[in-house]
Amino acid sequence: MTDPERPETGHDDAEIAGNGRISADGGNDDEAGDGWDSETRGGSDAEAGNVWDADEYDGDHSFVYEYGADLLGLLEPAPEERILDLGCGTGHLTAQVAESGAHVVGVDRSASMLETASGSHPEHPFVVADARALPLASGFDAAFSNAALHWIDATDQDAVLAGVHDSLAPEGRFVGELGGLGNVGAIVDAVGAELGRRGYETGTPWYFPSIGEYATRLERAGFEVRHARLFDRPTPLEDGEDGLRNWLEMFGDGLFAAVPADEREGVYRAVEDRLRPTLYGDARWIADYRRLRFLAVRP
Ligand SMILES: C[S@@+](CC[C@H](N)C(=O)[O-])C[C@H]1O[C@@H](n2cnc3c(N)ncnc32)[C@H](O)[C@@H]1O
Repeated sequence: MTDPERPETGHDDAEIAGNGRISADGGNDDEAGDGWDSETRGGSDAEAGNVWDADEYDGDHSFVYEYGADLLGLLEPAPEERILDLGCGTGHLTAQVAESGAHVVGVDRSASMLETASGSHPEHPFVVADARALPLASGFDAAFSNAALHWIDATDQDAVLAGVHDSLAPEGRFVGELGGLGNVGAIVDAVGAELGRRGYETGTPWYFPSIGEYATRLERAGFEVRHARLFDRPTPLEDGEDGLRNWLEMFGDGLFAAVPADEREGVYRAVEDRLRPTLYGDARWIADYRRLRFLAVRP
């Protein structure tokens, strides 16, 4: 895993327009004209609860955006629309949304994920920014988010939704998918039991809401909820026998924060033993994903 490479830098006065350009009072030094302001090239991955390794993500965990592609059917992007991809990661879905002819801006707080996004899709603007304090201009036709919102604390969700609401034009839509109530419940329980046995405190780094909870938040933020669905999506992990271990390494920084590095291997093995009877078969692991998908509109 990579270390967070740069300190976070704020850009309270900056504003991201639909074309990805950043305007601010004296704050735009985007000399390269690529939509990146050197001031915004910060971003502390670690503070987000997980250190994001873009190569590992694209290598072994591409299922996240491959499943997310399904969500585009709900977004229905149209030519010339201005669309925000919130928590865009390495930008694969950003690029797919843009295939519709829409102008898409990818936003993520991880500088390393965005470096990969920008390298793979240089034709689209990517901006390092935190969803909890979006420096966005208003007037987007839609906002889109796949597998990012559950990385943000419950206490910060209202700020995220207020920011998205303000960034949208009237009739603008917000389409998202995140882990829903009970997501990876068997994995969380097995990790909790193993860490408890070893005397560590346990907790989860994710926010997995029910439909009722998230729809209520959306309504409180001023959205009209037009669609919400909670569904099981058992998800095969790549890399055969190593699949679960790799998943825990990629996404589990927050779960294992208290465990010293030299003890983690033993914990992973013990968690595998606990889960093998229920989540392993035909030489692959199947994670017990449950997703919450929604479409909400700013009236
Ligand atoms: C599992 S990845 C999903 C990436 C992409 N949407 C996809 O479908 O491949 C989660 C992303 O959410 C981003 N993220 C987490 N917290 C964030 C925040 N507060 N603001 C912006 N991005 C955030 C992470 O940096 C990471 O790139």
